Amino acid sequence: MSDDRIQQIMQALSKVEDPELHKDMVTLNMIRDVVVENDDVSLTVVLTTPACPMRDEITRRVTDGLHVLGWVDQVNINMTADVRSDKTPATASLPGVKNALAVASGKGGVGKSTVSVNLAVALSRHGASVGILDADVYGPNIPLMMGAQGDPVSVQGKIQPLEAHGIKLMSLGFMLEEGTPVIWRGPMIGGALKQLTADVNWGNIDYLIVDLPPGTGDASLSLAQLVPLVGAVVVSTPQEVALQDVRRSISMFERLSVDVLGIVENMSYYLHDNGDRVEIFGHGGAKDAAEHLQLPFLGEIPLSPIIRKGGDSGNPITSNKEAPLGDIFMDISAKVAATVSVKMLEKVEPLPML
Ligand SMILES: Nc1ncnc2c1ncn2[C@@H]1O[C@H](COP(=O)(O)OP(=O)(O)OP(=O)(O)O)[C@@H](O)[C@H]1O
Ligand SMILES: [Mg+2]
Repeated sequence: MSDDRIQQIMQALSKVEDPELHKDMVTLNMIRDVVVENDDVSLTVVLTTPACPMRDEITRRVTDGLHVLGWVDQVNINMTADVRSDKTPATASLPGVKNALAVASGKGGVGKSTVSVNLAVALSRHGASVGILDADVYGPNIPLMMGAQGDPVSVQGKIQPLEAHGIKLMSLGFMLEEGTPVIWRGPMIGGALKQLTADVNWGNIDYLIVDLPPGTGDASLSLAQLVPLVGAVVVSTPQEVALQDVRRSISMFERLSVDVLGIVENMSYYLHDNGDRVEIFGHGGAKDAAEHLQLPFLGEIPLSPIIRKGGDSGNPITSNKEAPLGDIFMDISAKVAATVSVKMLEKVEPLPML
């Protein structure tokens, strides 16, 4: 009797599509632990990211899908997440890391590192395990922005990343003496990066955010090739000159066969204390560029002293749950995670059946 009902449930759910992945929930192997008691159904939905922006919609679709059966009374849904990973041989060079994604920009100073740290903290707040790799050869400043103290130590030949705000982090800066100007040459970058990836004990993390150097020069090119990336988030300011740089950045990733996950517009507008918006660099340019280039637009971040102070004090704005601007990063990170899930689905075999 119950087996028959479970079969009916699975059949009903095989007609319910995930709103983001556009396949049914049974094919995606997202349904677990189905229990029928009297006419009530309990089940677990395994999301492809804890930062899923579609929880409510999925709950509604599953509930409605089961009520179609006629006999179902209460539907109790427990949600968990299992971030899927690209299991191609390239990712073997980053053991324990499910998805590495770069934050890049066509030019310097547009807020790449600010976006990197806040994206990492936001993904962690959503429930994901996250690391940051500060690969900016010109000015590695992630440890400062995250408020990380001390130097990493080596245990049994593996470098232990530092941890701050629940995020594991490693930086090229740890390998340089403070204040020493660095002349990076190709082999040096290669060696240092290899150490920062394969020799680091990342543990098991869902997302590794890689803060790339600005621009499309040799350093960015080498780094983007050395780390197996699932994709890149490109940061831009709104004005036209910055957008030209974005286009350059995007064509660099195209040449490297790295997908651009989307564009973030930083310093989008200035939010005055009285609530007025001042559009210092114009506004909406990145959104237009994203549309033109047929790339997802991930969101706009205002120019705000509290964002800068967050970076300077080692407390990214998103680490403060009360800070209103943190919501912007929560939203951007959910979009990034959803885009990664869709990409993984294209590449990866479904999870084993129940
Ligand atoms: N939205 C914002 N509002 C206010 N200040 C910001 C914002 N975004 C970035 N900043 C500040 O601008 C400066 C540059 O930002 P950040 O270091 O993140 O840029 P970057 O692109 O990583 O620079 P670089 O190319 O030098 O690595 C920092 O002082 C940062 O705090
Ligand atoms: Mg930076």
